[in-house]
Amino acid sequence: MVNAKKSTGFWQALDERVGISELKYHVPEHAQGLGYSLGGVTLVSFVILVITGIWMGQFYNPMPETARESLLYIISSAPAGFFARNLHYWAANAMLLTALLHMLRVLYTGSYKRPREANWLVGVALLALTIGLIFTGSALKWDQEGLEGLAHNVEIAAVLGGVGGWFSPSFTDSVPILTRLYIAHVSVLPVLLFVVFAVHALLIKLQGLAPNAFASRDATTHKTAGEPSKATFLGHLGAVGLYSLIGLGIMVFLAIAVPAQLGPAPVEGIEVTKPWWMFLPIFTVENWVGLGGLVWASAAIFIALAIVPFVDRSPYLHPARRKGVLIAYGLLALLLIGLGIYSKIAPGAAHLGM
Ligand code: HEM
Repeated sequence: MVNAKKSTGFWQALDERVGISELKYHVPEHAQGLGYSLGGVTLVSFVILVITGIWMGQFYNPMPETARESLLYIISSAPAGFFARNLHYWAANAMLLTALLHMLRVLYTGSYKRPREANWLVGVALLALTIGLIFTGSALKWDQEGLEGLAHNVEIAAVLGGVGGWFSPSFTDSVPILTRLYIAHVSVLPVLLFVVFAVHALLIKLQGLAPNAFASRDATTHKTAGEPSKATFLGHLGAVGLYSLIGLGIMVFLAIAVPAQLGPAPVEGIEVTKPWWMFLPIFTVENWVGLGGLVWASAAIFIALAIVPFVDRSPYLHPARRKGVLIAYGLLALLLIGLGIYSKIAPGAAHLGM
């Protein structure tokens, strides 16, 4: 029997089949703002990274003898290779930047409070995976910076002892460590990130967005009755789409105007480069106290992030009622920025026994 309900337009026909109007459920009014769209914008950068990464994967050869050659091929000859590589580079920067801004928004608005403590921890895992993707990606360039990054990987494995085995070249003789980092970069870490993000999204769907921290000085994590919201999830997706389009425009401009660098061919036994901006703060600590400092400083930063919901237990959301925690984490952020700037201008020290 023919369906009695007739489609009158393309959208209605599509809706009938995939149920777009189901996305029109109500969400809080504040979900439409940029602050509450940063998580979605971060996800869009990840999608751009996957698409450009798949394209580059057709031309990149992850064997130590050929990696650099294949990257030069991507830059100079592969169809759209130059653009894909530069867009990949800027999308990686954008993804980390918006993830950090998203985390700061959650921190500032107290959205990690009960019952969202677990989702904060899931977010910390997402941040670690994002940084892991950037670290493994920067080694794949197989220039001097890439080699030194890899050498750090190897020495960190030694500092970690038994648990570090997987990260060291001696784990197996059959596959070079560069190739194993490539596998981590193109499959293990993206798949993990996707799965962990699915948990993040599921918890957001189950718990809903945290109430508006600025509704009043007494706003708490318990939902208060107010004006019914007119905003819908579909509208929120529209806002995320708009902000992401603006972000994509900026990335495309940068990909054309400021190409990603490729340093000189790697030379073993020297240490002359500085890492990417996100690693600069711990690079300073490493300069001061050696390689162990890198491991312990990174662990300390992640522990400091993980404990946020457990040190700030009050139900209040308004920043004015959470000055202690905001000042403490503001100082931590300033310290990291200060260390990063210092690292950029101070001469680098050699840490590796290459
Ligand atoms: C790195 C990739 C990440 C992605 C793709 C992501 C995605 C999202 C999205 C789409 C939302 C919905 C609301 C919004 O966009 O603000 C959200 C909410 C949330 N995220 Fe993330 N997130 C990421 C990282 C983080 C990090 C690093 C943290 C904290 C350490 C975090 C903690 C949270 C919390 C607690 C919520 C609920 C906030 C609320 O209810 O207002 N997320 N995330």
